[in-house]
Amino acid sequence: MFSKASFLCAFAAVGYASPIVYPRADDPFVFTNSNGLNFTQMNASLPNVTIFATGGTIAGSSSSSTATTGYTAGAVGILTLIDAVPEILNISNVAGIQISNVGSEDVTSALLLKMAKQINEYVCNDPTMAGAVVTHGTDVLEETAFFLDATVNCGKPVIIVGAMRPSTAISADGPFNLLEAVTVAASPSARDRGAMVVMNDRIVSAYYVTKTNANTMDTFKAVEMGNLGELISNTPYFFYPPI
Ligand SMILES: *[C@@H]1O[C@H](CO)[C@@H](O)[C@H](O)[C@H]1NC(C)=O
Ligand SMILES: *[C@@H]1O[C@H](CO)[C@@H](O)[C@H](O)[C@H]1NC(C)=O
Ligand SMILES: *[C@@H]1O[C@H](CO)[C@@H](O)[C@H](O)[C@H]1NC(C)=O
Ligand SMILES: *[C@@H]1O[C@H](CO)[C@@H](O)[C@H](O)[C@H]1NC(C)=O
Repeated sequence: MFSKASFLCAFAAVGYASPIVYPRADDPFVFTNSNGLNFTQMNASLPNVTIFATGGTIAGSSSSSTATTGYTAGAVGILTLIDAVPEILNISNVAGIQISNVGSEDVTSALLLKMAKQINEYVCNDPTMAGAVVTHGTDVLEETAFFLDATVNCGKPVIIVGAMRPSTAISADGPFNLLEAVTVAASPSARDRGAMVVMNDRIVSAYYVTKTNANTMDTFKAVEMGNLGELISNTPYFFYPPI
């Protein structure tokens, strides 16, 4: 369950405190859907999004706020990530599934198949779900994105997201990336575009995306028509309609 105390602990754990104070009559409550997924919800009329957490830098932890390398990937669990970005609850009702908690160099074929099967079962085959988010390490993020683009069979958005800075760094990019990823996953304008990588304000086709730099935040890029859109003030703008 989510208490105010656990929210505060989570802020401390990830070194990020929301400047926004939400008008909350109640703490968010949890409902369990027909597949047994537990959702946190503040507004019942928002779309439902499931976050599949696999680990990586977005869940990384370091002993220093200036260390952006040499940290432990996959140290922070999905509920902590969600708690760190309560703005997500103004966009969607979210459920978190911790599929694994590994750096992406340890993503195996078995784990890829598990992701695709669970997304097909829990999101595609469930009419109450709007979309899926996969949090992932960045080393093989583009390969997982390509795999999910090829194996998830529905028009709902599947958004792969990571972070370049660990959650303990100053200006960690994970919280905003996660908010943007959930926003795109919940957005009707993101349907029928296949899987997409959402990081650093960009919406990039999973088919074309490439990690271009091992360390910088603007690393995920695409040539040709793979750059599908961007977010401005957390609103997605697509450059072209889906084809
Ligand atoms: C949902 O919550 C129930 C009760 O806390 C728990 O037994 C169950 O494992 C949770 N489901 C998932 C998918 O985490
Ligand atoms: C709940 O979400 C709906 C749909 O986005 C919105 O119109 C409404 O204002 C929200 N209610 C509150 C109390 O924020
Ligand atoms: C929360 O959502 C409402 C619409 O549902 C919007 O007007 C408001 O600006 C949002 N607040 C934040 C902090 O994002
Ligand atoms: C979200 O899921 C709940 C429980 O499965 C369902 O009652 C609700 O209608 C869903 N919301 C939307 C917008 O589909």
